Amino acid sequence: MASSNAFQLIEGTGGKEFIQTLLGKMTLAEKIGQLCQVNAGDNHIPDNLHNDLKEGLIGSVLNQVDVKLVNELQRIAVEESRLGIPLLIGRDVIHGFKTVLPIPVGQAATWNPDLVRKGAEIAAKEAASTGVNWTFAPMLDISRDPRWGRVAESLGEDPYLASELGEAMVNGFQGENLSDIGSIASCAKHFAGYGAAESGRDYATTNIPENELRNVYLKPFHSAVNAGVTAVMTSFSDVNGIPATANEFLLRQVLRDEWLFDGFVVSDWDSVKQLSTHGLTENDKESAFEALSAGVDMEMASYTFRHHLSSLVAEGRISEELIDQSVLNILGVKYALGLFESPYTDPDSLSSIANPYALGIARQSARESIVMLKNDNKALPLIESKLNSLAVIGPLADSAYEQLGTWIFDGDPDLSITALEAIKNRAGDEIQVNFHSGLETTRSRDTNSFDEVSRIAKDSDAVLLFLGEESILSGEAHCRADINLPGVQAQLVENVRKCGKPVIAVIMAGRPITLTNIIDQVDALLFAWHPGTMGGAAIAELLFGDESPSGKLPISFPRHVGQIPIYYNQKNTGKPPSDKAIVHIDDIDPLAPQTSLGMTAFHLDEGFKPLFPFGFGLSYTVFKYENIQCDRYEMKIGESITVSADLMNTGEFEAEEIAQLYVRDLVGNVTRPVRELKGFRRVHLTPGQKKTVSFEIHSDDLAFYDRNQKLIVEPGEFRVWIGGSSYAELETGFRVIN
Ligand code: NOJ
Repeated sequence: MASSNAFQLIEGTGGKEFIQTLLGKMTLAEKIGQLCQVNAGDNHIPDNLHNDLKEGLIGSVLNQVDVKLVNELQRIAVEESRLGIPLLIGRDVIHGFKTVLPIPVGQAATWNPDLVRKGAEIAAKEAASTGVNWTFAPMLDISRDPRWGRVAESLGEDPYLASELGEAMVNGFQGENLSDIGSIASCAKHFAGYGAAESGRDYATTNIPENELRNVYLKPFHSAVNAGVTAVMTSFSDVNGIPATANEFLLRQVLRDEWLFDGFVVSDWDSVKQLSTHGLTENDKESAFEALSAGVDMEMASYTFRHHLSSLVAEGRISEELIDQSVLNILGVKYALGLFESPYTDPDSLSSIANPYALGIARQSARESIVMLKNDNKALPLIESKLNSLAVIGPLADSAYEQLGTWIFDGDPDLSITALEAIKNRAGDEIQVNFHSGLETTRSRDTNSFDEVSRIAKDSDAVLLFLGEESILSGEAHCRADINLPGVQAQLVENVRKCGKPVIAVIMAGRPITLTNIIDQVDALLFAWHPGTMGGAAIAELLFGDESPSGKLPISFPRHVGQIPIYYNQKNTGKPPSDKAIVHIDDIDPLAPQTSLGMTAFHLDEGFKPLFPFGFGLSYTVFKYENIQCDRYEMKIGESITVSADLMNTGEFEAEEIAQLYVRDLVGNVTRPVRELKGFRRVHLTPGQKKTVSFEIHSDDLAFYDRNQKLIVEPGEFRVWIGGSSYAELETGFRVIN
């Protein structure tokens, strides 16, 4: 696996000497050219782009995926420019390319790093066959606010899970060797804190205390850097008063000085120019000055570097050495990718797009990402022998495009298997499938077809309701203030409920949805995110019980939007709430309104718990955890301890469980979360089978940034839980000593 950064990757290959020599031959204009990334023309190479490439004024092009045009771009750069420096070709290959995998938050619900790695590997291979050599993924922004549309592209709310899966993605994209055919450079984004946008409005201001930034938001980025990610993209947001794109603390102190990152930093789209819009700079020239000085190596889309860096150098405000460093950072990655040796792409050199292996991984990924949130009276799995007919209702039952989710520039809806197709296929001639979309879109408010839907529901043995959000409702700039099911979908559920048949909801969405208003109206609920190309096939497999659902939530599902932010690894507060001490608004004692309230941290109308907690997900079987133990009570700093528990499948279904390990540090130099995920594992168990799950905790795993922002491991008492969600009850403890 990739285990080092750009310069380290070219260490000992002659690469360092090569790029130094090349740098020595470059004019200032050519150097600045390497720092500029521009958008490609549509179906041709415009003359101005051709000329700029010839002059060596461009280091990278994004958004061209026609292999002939990509090869032509490379040809111009390599053969027509003075120094022949090849191009980085960037693209948002976020969750698959032609074969679309579940959206990243769905992939996070698999809790399966190996599968996530394989997904990224497939995406890289398919993208590389068009000449793309750099993806703008993974997005590692910790997301505690499901109103934010980019939750879809995130790996959820937890720094540990996001770190493990982010690292897997980096390894998948970059492969064993960046220079291998089919490997592409990856880019950890958006550095940093983008997910903390106020009120979940994209691009909005973020204010994150440094300690929180270090203990939560920066963790997945640090892991990605350690895993050898080659690029880092800045965030659009203002972070504590300084936009991330001009944030020297983040880009130099943390990223370079502390983490020793030696790849390159790219801005987000126009985010250098936007420094003026933020009100940080007066004009483009000052924006270029601030961004480069802060540590941005490459400017995406806007032209402030191109227009102003040379005068800033001439005026002595920016040294040529600083520019040289940025150029070397970029050339190092180009060298590591092997572009100087082979800049061109042979489209036939890679296995075909959407081949059976890719579709198989997409299917497994969709299957493992689906989280069963409710299953009363064994409504699922469907038992074919007991069914004569099935109603399939809803706007997302047969939507090849919508099931793919956000960021699917290159995704091919023609490859999609929809739920309706898969169910019909599965039902064969034995079970009559009665379909009605019910609503034209998920946002529709037209109830005209509800009578017809009721008739179909009454005529069927069970109702499958496919609800949720179209892909347009999540992703960049697609945020919502109300995260209930949009339109009149809740009424559709109510209407169908009245028909007296088992109601099974399958929800496809780009974010957690507040399900409080429908959860009691359905017998079972599968949350499928946007499951990608093979989504329908995976859903049918679970509905019919070929396999058990096994996904677990990578983000809490609030009861009500007003609870946001709500996340499991919160601090205890001085007045922690408890089930025993909450009072509902309807139960306030009129005679003692003050004293009856309990005086703890809860909402009078919604309590303090989410509807479904982080880590939660049901199975067709029943898993029982018992006998938690540590191999010893005390461990010294520098040592490890092993915590284990027995996990037994006490139900009747062969299934996989995601066993989770949580830790609480009871007393800290800064207050510590009530629980923190420190380990997880997928465990396969046949009925009656028992396995011991063990997790090793090294004292370093317990490290945190203290009030002086130093990473420390403190001696003291720890509680530890093993179980099937962040509400795991099986508990023991250990002590760390000096
Ligand atoms: C803006 C987005 O914020 C970023 O994530 C993406 O990679 C770039 N545009 C390039 O498309």
